[in-house]
Amino acid sequence: MALPRNQLLPVLVLFLAYYYYSGQDDFRPEMLQGKRVIITGASKGIGEEVAYQLARMGAHVVLTARSENALKKVVSRCLKLGAASAHYVPGSMEDTKFVDSFVDTAAQLLGGLDMLILNHLMNSPMRLFPTDMATVRRNQQVNFLSYLALSTAAQPLLWASNGSLVVVSSLAGKIAFPLLASYSASKFALDGFFSSLRLENKMTGVNVSITLCVLGLIDTESAMESVKDIIKNVQPSPKSECALEIIKAAILRKDEFFFGRPSWLNLLLFNPGRKVLEFFWKDYFNLDKLQKPPAQP
Ligand SMILES: NC(=O)c1ccc[n+]([C@@H]2O[C@H](COP(=O)([O-])OP(=O)(O)OC[C@H]3O[C@@H](n4cnc5c(N)ncnc54)[C@H](OP(=O)(O)O)[C@@H]3O)[C@@H](O)[C@H]2O)c1
Ligand SMILES: *[C@@H]1O[C@H](CO)[C@@H](O)[C@H](O)[C@H]1NC(C)=O
Ligand SMILES: *[C@@H]1O[C@H](CO)[C@@H](O)[C@H](O)[C@H]1NC(C)=O
Repeated sequence: MALPRNQLLPVLVLFLAYYYYSGQDDFRPEMLQGKRVIITGASKGIGEEVAYQLARMGAHVVLTARSENALKKVVSRCLKLGAASAHYVPGSMEDTKFVDSFVDTAAQLLGGLDMLILNHLMNSPMRLFPTDMATVRRNQQVNFLSYLALSTAAQPLLWASNGSLVVVSSLAGKIAFPLLASYSASKFALDGFFSSLRLENKMTGVNVSITLCVLGLIDTESAMESVKDIIKNVQPSPKSECALEIIKAAILRKDEFFFGRPSWLNLLLFNPGRKVLEFFWKDYFNLDKLQKPPAQP
C-alpha cells in the first residue's frame, strides 16, 4: 500500500474516531413507515420478532419460511400490530426454483422493495466434524448460496429505491467456532461475499447499503435448544432487543454491527487493520476496463 509507515497510527486513530461517531445517528421508528420489506426465516425466532417490530413501525412486510401455519399466525399478528400490509409466501430455501422466483413474487405484493432482510437458517446440532456431506451441502445451500441468489434477484429493485440489504450473521462468522464448523464456514462466506459486494457498490456509486449483523447468543428456542449442556457461562440476549438493533442498523445504513453479550466483544471484533486495508484497496482497481452489469442505473 502507498502509505508511509509513520502515517499509519494517525490514520488508524482517525478511523476509530470515524466509526465511533458515525454510530451516533438518531433512529426514529417513523423512518420505517411505509417501507416495503422482505424478511426471510420469519416464522419464528429473530425473524418473527423483526416482523413484529416492523409492523409496529407501519412497514409493508412479506414474510417467508417453510411452515405455512406459523407464517399465517405471524402475518395476522403483524396486521394487528399496525403493519401497512402483511403477506407470506411459503417455500424452502433448499428449493432453487423457489429461491429464484421468491423475490419477484414478494416485490409484486409490495409494489417494489426498500429492504431485504436475509435471516433464515438451517439449524445444525453442535457436534464434532465430520458430518455427512449431504448435510454439509444442504447447509451451504440454505445458509449461504440462497442468500447470494436472493440478493442478486433483489439488486435491480434495491438500486431503484436506494434500498438496503441486511444479512444476519453470527460471531461464528467472525471467529472460529468449534462444533459448528460447517455453519461457521457459511457465515464467513457471507462476510466474504457481501463485504466484497459492498466495496463494489462504493466503487461504482451504487447507493444500496449492506448491513452485516454479527450476533452473539440470542434467546430463540432453537438456539437455546442447541447450546444447552454444551456452551458454558454465556448469557443470551433477548430476541426482541436484537430485532430492534437489526432494524436500526439497517435503516441507518451501517456496514456492520455486533449485538450480544458481553457487549465489549465489539471492541475485539472491530478489526481496524481490515477496515483500513479495505478503504484503500478499492483505489487499486481500474474500473474503466470493466463493463457495468446490465441492470445498473
Ligand atoms: N439465536 C442465536 O443465538 C443466533 C446467534 C447468532 C446468529 N444467529 C442468526 O440469526 C438468524 C436467525 O436465527 P434464529 O435463532 O432466529 O433461528 P430460528 O428460530 O431457528 O429460525 C430460523 C428460521 O429459518 C427458517 N428456515 C429454516 N430452514 C429453512 C429452509 N430450508 N428454508 C426456508 N426457511 C427455513 C425457519 O422456518 P421454517 O422451519 O418454518 O422453515 C425459521 O423461520 C440466523 O441467521 C442465525 O444464524 C442467531
Ligand atoms: C436515490 O438517490 C439518488 C442520489 O443518490 C437520488 O437522486 C434519487 O432520487 C434517489 N431515488 C430514490 C427513489 O430515492
Ligand atoms: C443514498 O440513499 C439514501 C436513502 O435514500 C439517501 O439518504 C442518501 O443521501 C443517498 N446517498 C447518496 C450518496 O446518494
